[in-house]
Amino acid sequence: MELLQMNSHSFSTISTKKIIQMNDVWTSYDSKNYAVKGINLSIDRGTNYAFVGQSGSGKSTLLKLMNGMMSASKGTIKIDYQTPNMNDKKFKSMMHTIGYIPQSLGLIKNITVLENILIGALPRMKKFQSFFKIFPNEEIQEAKKILKLVGLSGKEERKAYMLSGGEKRRVAIARAFMQKPTILLADEIVSELDHFTAREIMNLIVDAQKRMNLTAIMVHHDMQLALEYSNRVAVIKDGEKILEIGVEGDKIVDFQTGDLTSDEIMEMYSDESKK
Ligand SMILES: Nc1ncnc2c1ncn2[C@@H]1O[C@H](COP(=O)(O)OP(=O)(O)OP(=O)(O)O)[C@@H](O)[C@H]1O
Ligand SMILES: [Mg+2]
Repeated sequence: MELLQMNSHSFSTISTKKIIQMNDVWTSYDSKNYAVKGINLSIDRGTNYAFVGQSGSGKSTLLKLMNGMMSASKGTIKIDYQTPNMNDKKFKSMMHTIGYIPQSLGLIKNITVLENILIGALPRMKKFQSFFKIFPNEEIQEAKKILKLVGLSGKEERKAYMLSGGEKRRVAIARAFMQKPTILLADEIVSELDHFTAREIMNLIVDAQKRMNLTAIMVHHDMQLALEYSNRVAVIKDGEKILEIGVEGDKIVDFQTGDLTSDEIMEMYSDESKK
């Protein structure tokens, strides 16, 4: 009887646990060479997923495929049921829920820290307000709150070009948080930082994940750091995902070995960690 009652219950929404899925995805910049080749992956909502791999292996391209800046020439990509495509109305309407921090950070140099953070609020503002950049008081208060959260108190009026590398990253993260994102795509935002600052920045993201059930996809340079902070680490080589690993307790667990032996995996891990 209970079962019957459950069947007659009407559900108004559906939510996918696999917030990002790629199925045999290929893409190229020049129609000759593929930058991404046959990628399969799925990312659980609320988790932290990392890409590591050598320069030119296709990590940034994978993030661009997720935010619709690039499109797949073969295969399928789903972000919360939608195919990322900047020309698609439905995807456009959800784009503000994807916070993207490019490798170059994308800050506006000549405006202040606070103004850079407020850029994150533009997609939800009324057209005329966003055109003239008239920010409502509640958005300014929200930006100030986030500014404090990322450790930039006292720097709100400083121009972005006057900041240190670590501070610039904090502004980029604050701008992304201002968007109130469901997904955060961050491209090497802690590379080139000292050990301590890199971890401080990573902790900001982990805290936000707990508070907002954010799904974070991050490109990292350092395998150790990636394993420390991510549920899954995908190793990319020449556009292919050659390995997917995570840490469970005191073990490295492997979710996709491909052709690698366990010795080769451990070697890759220790080679990377020596860098
Ligand atoms: N705008 C572009 N036009 C043409 N080719 C590109 C472009 N951007 C990247 N590529 C090529 O695509 C491949 C993957 O580049 P991608 O930027 O994704 O690598 P990456 O893993 O992020 O490297 P890095 O660690 O140096 O940032 C490389 O061979 C690169 O030369
Ligand atoms: Mg890159």
